[in-house]
Amino acid sequence: MTVEVLDDHDAVTARVALEVSRAVAAGPLTLGLPTGRTPVALYGRLAAAGLDWSRVRTFNLDEFTSLAPGAPGSFRAFMDRHLFTRVNLRPEAIGFLRGDTADHAAECARYDAALEMAGGLDLLLLGLGANGHVGFNEPGPTLTAASHVVRLHEDTRRANADGFGGDWRRVPAAALTLGMRQILGARRVVLLATGASKAEAVAAMADGPLTTACPASWLQVVRDCLVVVDRAAAARLGTGAV
Ligand code: GLP
Repeated sequence: MTVEVLDDHDAVTARVALEVSRAVAAGPLTLGLPTGRTPVALYGRLAAAGLDWSRVRTFNLDEFTSLAPGAPGSFRAFMDRHLFTRVNLRPEAIGFLRGDTADHAAECARYDAALEMAGGLDLLLLGLGANGHVGFNEPGPTLTAASHVVRLHEDTRRANADGFGGDWRRVPAAALTLGMRQILGARRVVLLATGASKAEAVAAMADGPLTTACPASWLQVVRDCLVVVDRAAAARLGTGAV
């Protein structure tokens, strides 16, 4: 794991945009994508860059249960708004977990098989939960390799309240997420985290032991993993505070 500390959110965005732009330009590319506040500026920058996305396939990390694709608050609506409708990505090249299916297990199996058929992820962009989650792989006694349904922690629902009028109780209590196998199996991972609220998770991820209490700590086993953080998120690195 290589950690780069840059001045601020803008610098982190510019750095990661460069990485993604290079990969998109080099295509063909199977790209894993996160949602959240952190990558919004990144997607804006990528959309404005005029890149050719015709040889890119995408797989998003996660989706809330019970929401139809494109429903307000859904991650699919978020991605449509910030990236998908703004670049020439082929609609059939967009992979997404469907949260509104009756059989979540079958939907997760379908998604894992589709990603497997695509050859796995060449590049996976990740955000970081303040509690150390990646995708929606939440801290707990165990982690899960395959895509699966997860009950969301209350703090995670609170962190996602923006898409639901600011009311965390309206955030679905469960989600589907890519599991640790596809995340750790990505040929390259680039994680971005900014702001003081991520400082503890960044330190646990990069300096701490591998533990299910911090799912992101397992990224230490990924051969090619670049972590790009701003100074605020890096504040507890190297302090021995883990
Ligand atoms: C969300 C998403 C994650 C994301 C994280 C951080 O719950 N499921 O994929 O990386 O939380 O979000 P933010 O960037 O808003 O801090």
